[in-house]
Amino acid sequence: MSPPVYDWDADEYLTSEEERMIDELEAMLRPPALPMAPYPPKSVLLASGETMVVRQALVEEVDLMLKVIQPLSWVTRDFYDIVSARLFAELLGWKTHRVRDEYCLVGVIDGVLAGIVNGRLFDEKHGVSFHTLTLKRGLRVGSHLFASKMEHHIEYLGQDEVWIVAESPIGHRRWMIEYPLEKKFEVQHELGGAPAWVLTRDTYFKAKSRLVTGTRPVSDELLAKSYPLREPDLRVMLTQIEHTLEARV
Ligand SMILES: CC(C)(COP(=O)(O)OP(=O)(O)OC[C@H]1O[C@@H](n2cnc3c(N)ncnc32)[C@H](O)[C@@H]1OP(=O)(O)O)[C@@H](O)C(=O)NCCC(=O)NCCS
Repeated sequence: MSPPVYDWDADEYLTSEEERMIDELEAMLRPPALPMAPYPPKSVLLASGETMVVRQALVEEVDLMLKVIQPLSWVTRDFYDIVSARLFAELLGWKTHRVRDEYCLVGVIDGVLAGIVNGRLFDEKHGVSFHTLTLKRGLRVGSHLFASKMEHHIEYLGQDEVWIVAESPIGHRRWMIEYPLEKKFEVQHELGGAPAWVLTRDTYFKAKSRLVTGTRPVSDELLAKSYPLREPDLRVMLTQIEHTLEARV
């Protein structure tokens, strides 16, 4: 049973009728939801020899991710600021039921969060790629996670295509050029209305052997090690803002 709701302005608890009205209003604020197939976890062997588990994030893990992401929204290098700020809002929107049909995958190395990707269903056949954020750089963590996200849309959610934009030159190189994606500029992407690029089923399956790696199933023991998520050490990435970070936090 949820605890009684306190009205701080009136300095009293809400009546049960007031609580019922809030529940009804809340139900109206939430977008409808499509059924979504789960993403089966996989393990990816990185160039360092480390193993990264790629699995679906739990909504209960959003608060930890928000804590990790927030300081990065001040890091201008490689556009971490805009990507982190938007990802923060999307994950918060997922937790508070303010985004329609969103999912989030995480890359986890030895229990530590190494990267995040998310997206949503525009409808049953069209996917929207939101963001890819690498927290452990130099190992193509983001590249593997983006590939996992495309795998999810095409192979598990059974979609025809995914709409994508890049918000950084590295992103452009990794997605538009490496796959390569096609222009679909008549679609204004949800991320700021930028002209969208598209990954079709055909593009995905042509790129799959080059870019989509990983092993299934993941043993229970390895999967268990990816819970609970632990925060990465971002001191190096945050060096750029170390003078202002303390004051801002
Ligand atoms: C784009 C992104 C997801 C790619 O992730 P990734 O595949 O794990 O790649 P990395 O970030 O580790 O490396 C990308 C480039 O940065 C450079 N780099 C590598 N290690 C680095 C490090 N420790 N510090 C800074 N730059 C580094 C290299 O030039 C590398 O390019 P190369 O591998 O093609 O030579 C990631 O760079 C990122 O999160 N960027 C900020 C957010 C963003 O732009 N997201 C994508 C748009 S939606």
